[in-house]
Amino acid sequence: MKPFYHLPLLFIVVFSSALATSSADSHEDFLDCLSSYHPEESSSISRVVYTDRNSTYSAILESSIQNLRFSTPNTPKPLVIVTPLNTSHVQATVHCSKTHGLQIRTRSGGHDFEGLSYVSEVPFVVVDLVHFRSIDVDVEKEEAWVQSGAITGELYYRINERATNLTFPGALCHTVGIGGLISGGGYGLLFRKYGLAGDNVIDAQFIDANGRVLDRRSMGEDLFWAIRGGGGGSFGIVLAWKVNLVPIPSTVTVLSVGRTLEQNATQLLHRWQYVAPNLPNDVYSVVLISTTNATESGTRTVLATFTSVFQGRANELMALMQERFPELGFVPENFIEMTWIESLIFLTQLPNESPEILLNRTYRNTLLTPAFKAKSDYVRKPMPEIAFQGLWSQLLEDVASTATLNIISYGGKMDEIPESALPFPHRKGTLYKINYNIGWREEENGNPQRYINWIRKLYSYMGSFVSKSPREAYINYRDLDIGRNNDDGRTSYKQASVWGRKYFKKNFDRLVYVKSKTDPENFFRHEQSIPPRFH
Ligand SMILES: Cc1cc2nc3c(=O)[nH]c(=O)nc-3n(C[C@H](O)[C@H](O)[C@H](O)COP(=O)(O)OP(=O)(O)OC[C@H]3O[C@@H](n4cnc5c(N)ncnc54)[C@H](O)[C@@H]3O)c2cc1C
Ligand SMILES: *[C@@H]1O[C@H](CO)[C@@H](O)[C@H](O)[C@H]1NC(C)=O
Ligand SMILES: *[C@@H]1O[C@H](CO)[C@@H](O)[C@H](O)[C@H]1NC(C)=O
Ligand SMILES: *[C@@H]1O[C@H](CO)[C@@H](O)[C@H](O)[C@H]1NC(C)=O
Ligand SMILES: *[C@@H]1O[C@H](CO)[C@@H](O)[C@H](O)[C@H]1NC(C)=O
Ligand SMILES: *[C@@H]1O[C@H](CO)[C@@H](O)[C@H](O)[C@H]1NC(C)=O
Ligand SMILES: *[C@@H]1O[C@H](CO)[C@@H](O)[C@H](O)[C@H]1NC(C)=O
Repeated sequence: MKPFYHLPLLFIVVFSSALATSSADSHEDFLDCLSSYHPEESSSISRVVYTDRNSTYSAILESSIQNLRFSTPNTPKPLVIVTPLNTSHVQATVHCSKTHGLQIRTRSGGHDFEGLSYVSEVPFVVVDLVHFRSIDVDVEKEEAWVQSGAITGELYYRINERATNLTFPGALCHTVGIGGLISGGGYGLLFRKYGLAGDNVIDAQFIDANGRVLDRRSMGEDLFWAIRGGGGGSFGIVLAWKVNLVPIPSTVTVLSVGRTLEQNATQLLHRWQYVAPNLPNDVYSVVLISTTNATESGTRTVLATFTSVFQGRANELMALMQERFPELGFVPENFIEMTWIESLIFLTQLPNESPEILLNRTYRNTLLTPAFKAKSDYVRKPMPEIAFQGLWSQLLEDVASTATLNIISYGGKMDEIPESALPFPHRKGTLYKINYNIGWREEENGNPQRYINWIRKLYSYMGSFVSKSPREAYINYRDLDIGRNNDDGRTSYKQASVWGRKYFKKNFDRLVYVKSKTDPENFFRHEQSIPPRFH
């Protein structure tokens, strides 16, 4: 017997059971606090409060988890989920979480790449805005109020129902939540013409750390600036956004052409870098990179699919591409005219042409693997061909068969909006964004490390070719590898500025200033939340 071994062991046992008791207690107290906040039957909150003792708890939790990497038996689960029906339910949750030392994770669409809307290492409550999804379209004023829990597809559908010549410049993928999308900027098929989703917001309904309900006027321009791109979960809970609608023609045209390495994909992609960012604002241009078996020799190759969506007719786009990008070698049949809604369905490869699919929150695109790790880069100088060749050799490794890259052209309106207009700084001079993605089957969730290692190695390789000092990244493609706060969300200014400058460049300092003014106690925090100056 070595008695000195007992002391630390005993200490650990006592210490951890004390922790467990205190979190269980605070969780009971928290529930009591919620019900006493709403004593009357009519506004009772208990109908929308779930703990793991409610049989529907898991179904509610899993309902909008978009990355199954964070849906394993070992993933930390919330003590309580609240699905508010009323503003006062949200206020009660803020008040009681604060008094009982629980963190809040707000969830709108559940697409956070790192699962931050439903996972935390410290005891936490999820506010799931699934019932906050009314959409009120004003065709005359060309505006709409949309609640945060609505998905992008619902907004597109509701606008289209009222006026087929109006829409909103939101996300491509229809299941993305409006709450998280706008909180991080938000881009889609129309962003080269109208800017980001956040650029088209004119008012908001917001709950701050004191539970106050604020609008643009009462929150002031600093906070209104911060919530349109400073990233979700740092400042409070946005209940609804008032957005500007934009015109859309009755016919749009899609051009989609795939080229393998044997069909000069490398040279074409190299050329695309000079062509795409200078195309007119009416064109959205993306190159999807994947790998495929289909070559004559039967070996694997890289496939680059060059896709454009044009707000106009086929003959116009054909003339434009003939002038700007004849090397691509298209034929007239490659240009397909369709409606705006059909183009959304086509681009995200949804299974049918019926617009009702846009209302389906739980529809999971089968092209995407259910569990993934993703990263992003911005490119300001064209990459040399040799850089692409190095990229191909990594994509052709066995581990990478499910890896994809989305290379999305910037330019157009994005070059005209000043870098400081919103927290989102990737504007003038950005040629394109790269989104790297690798997925795996759910059964492999126990040990996805080889996939994660692969994408980290790829990211390290790309470092020499992409933006530098800072190496820019898109906040809505959240990546905890680029720097993070502590597990409890606390951090120093210095620690946070490592990731903060990559997402926001100089705007990071204004975000810290707004945070210090509006939530100095740092109630709303997570692994990549904006810290107040003196914490
Ligand atoms: C399949 C897929 C496709 C995507 N396509 C696009 C695209 O086309 N364009 C694009 O720009 N991005 C796209 N994204 C990224 C997407 O914009 C971000 O993941 C965004 O944060 C998702 O919002 P959400 O409400 O669905 O996510 P959630 O996971 O619910 O929230 C994301 C973050 O915002 C916080 N948050 C959520 N709601 C609120 C609120 N109401 N108030 C305050 N904070 C809140 C959360 O706590 C979390 O930190 C895509 C992501 C996926 C997984
Ligand atoms: C969850 O269980 C509690 C305790 O039985 C109950 O009061 C509450 O209404 C249940 N929640 C829902 C959403 O049914
Ligand atoms: C809460 O919302 C419900 C359903 O939307 C509504 O019927 C009820 O009147 C609201 N209660 C309060 C107190 O606002
Ligand atoms: C949309 O169509 C309506 C009805 O035809 C028309 O009054 C309105 O001006 C059009 N709006 C735009 C932006 O084209
Ligand atoms: C690839 O490029 C070469 C040289 O420019 C050209 O001769 C060849 O026809 C191209 N191949 C295809 C499939 O376009
Ligand atoms: C490609 O080839 C590999 C190895 O021959 C095989 O395992 C895989 O299923 C093939 N993939 C497709 C999409 O055909
Ligand atoms: C939504 O899509 C899923 C398939 O991903 C399907 O199982 C479900 O029935 C659909 N829901 C509705 C309401 O159509």
